[in-house]
Amino acid sequence: IDNGLALTPPMGWNDWNAFGCDVSAKLVEQTADRLVSSGLKAAGYQYVNIDDCWLTKSRDVSGNLVPDPVKFPDGIKGVADYVHSKGLKLGIYQSAGTMTCAGYPGSLGHEQQDANSFASWGVDYLKYDNCYNMGLPGKQRYQAMGDALARTGRQIVYSLCNWGEESVASWGGSVGNLWRTTGDIDASYGRMLSIVHQNMPLAASAKPGAWNDPDMLEVGNGMTPTEDRTEFSLWAEMAAPLIAGTDLRTASPATLAIYGNREVIAVDQDQLGRQGVPVSTTGGLDVLAKPLADGSVAVTLFNENTAPAVMSTTAAAIGLPRAKGYTLRDLWAHRTTETAGTISANVPGHGTVMYRVAPTRTPERYAPDLVLRTSTP
Ligand code: GLA
Repeated sequence: IDNGLALTPPMGWNDWNAFGCDVSAKLVEQTADRLVSSGLKAAGYQYVNIDDCWLTKSRDVSGNLVPDPVKFPDGIKGVADYVHSKGLKLGIYQSAGTMTCAGYPGSLGHEQQDANSFASWGVDYLKYDNCYNMGLPGKQRYQAMGDALARTGRQIVYSLCNWGEESVASWGGSVGNLWRTTGDIDASYGRMLSIVHQNMPLAASAKPGAWNDPDMLEVGNGMTPTEDRTEFSLWAEMAAPLIAGTDLRTASPATLAIYGNREVIAVDQDQLGRQGVPVSTTGGLDVLAKPLADGSVAVTLFNENTAPAVMSTTAAAIGLPRAKGYTLRDLWAHRTTETAGTISANVPGHGTVMYRVAPTRTPERYAPDLVLRTSTP
C-alpha cells in the first residue's frame, strides 16, 4: 500500500521461529541490544517484532487487550520505549479472527479499538494472522484492520499473514505492505525449498511498499551453513522481508556473518524494488535474475540437488545489454572477476552462488574517472 512505508522490504527480527510462545520484554530488549552491538542495526535491521503469546487470555472490562503482566511488566509501551531508545522500531502480532493462533483474544470485530491500543503504545509494525477467521473473506478482514491502522494516524507497517490463501498476491498490495505467500516455514531444507517454489512465480506482484513474504528466516536454526546461505541469498533475490528468526544473543559469528552480508542485503534493499524472476529452472538448477537500480543485475545460481553442479547462464539471458565485457561480483566470496558474457560457477549441492553483474565500462568512459581518481591525494 501507498502509506509511505516499506519502500524496500522490511528488515528486522521476530521471536517466533526460535522461541514460539516463550516471548518476553527481557528477550525483546536483549535482542534490541544485540542488534546494535552485532552491527546488524547498522546493516539495516530495524524492526524488533513480538509474535503470538504476548497477551492475557481475556480483554479488560472496557474490551481492551491486556499484555501478559509477567512477560511484559511495563506493558508493550515499556518495551516500545526501550526499543525506540536504541533507534529501532517495535512490531506486534494479532489475528484477523476471534483468537490468535495460540488461543489469545483476536482482533476480529475489535479492529479500531486494538489499532488505537497499538498506536498509543508506540507500535510501528503489525503482523496480522489468519487463525479463527470464521470463514469470512480475507480481503474484507484484512482491509478492516488496514483502515483502522490508517485512522490512528500512526505510521505502522502492515504485514498480512494469511498464508498465501485466497490468491493474496493479487490483492495484498492494495491492503498491506507485505503478505505471506505460504504456510509456515521451519528450519529444514525441504520446507524452505517448497516455500521458494511457491514464492518464486509471484514476482509480478512485488513493488516498493508491497512485497511477497515467504516467511521469516531460519538462518542459524539448524540447516547447514550452505543451506543458510542459500536461504539468505534467495530471500534477497526475491526482494523478501529479511526478518531474522534466530536467537541473536547466542548466534555464532558464522550466523551473524550471513545475516550481516551487506552485499547480499544491498540486493534485497535495492531501490528499484523488483523481485528476481526465474530465467531457467531445469533439473533443479535454478537461475534467477533481479534487475537493480544502477543497471546491474543480481543473478542467483541455486543448485537444489545434493550433488554439486556446474551452472551457467549468459549476460543476455539475465537481461543485460550487449557490452564488450562484464564484471562479476561474487557476493559471498567478495571477489570481482570479468567475463565476455558467460556467467558460470561450480555450485555445491543445496548451495547458491550469487553475482552482481554489470557491463564493463568502455575505456572512453573510464578515462575521466581515472584522471579524477589519480589526481586525488
Ligand atoms: C501462525 C503464523 C506464524 C506464527 C504463529 C503464531 O502459524 O503463520 O508465523 O505467527 O501463527 O501462533
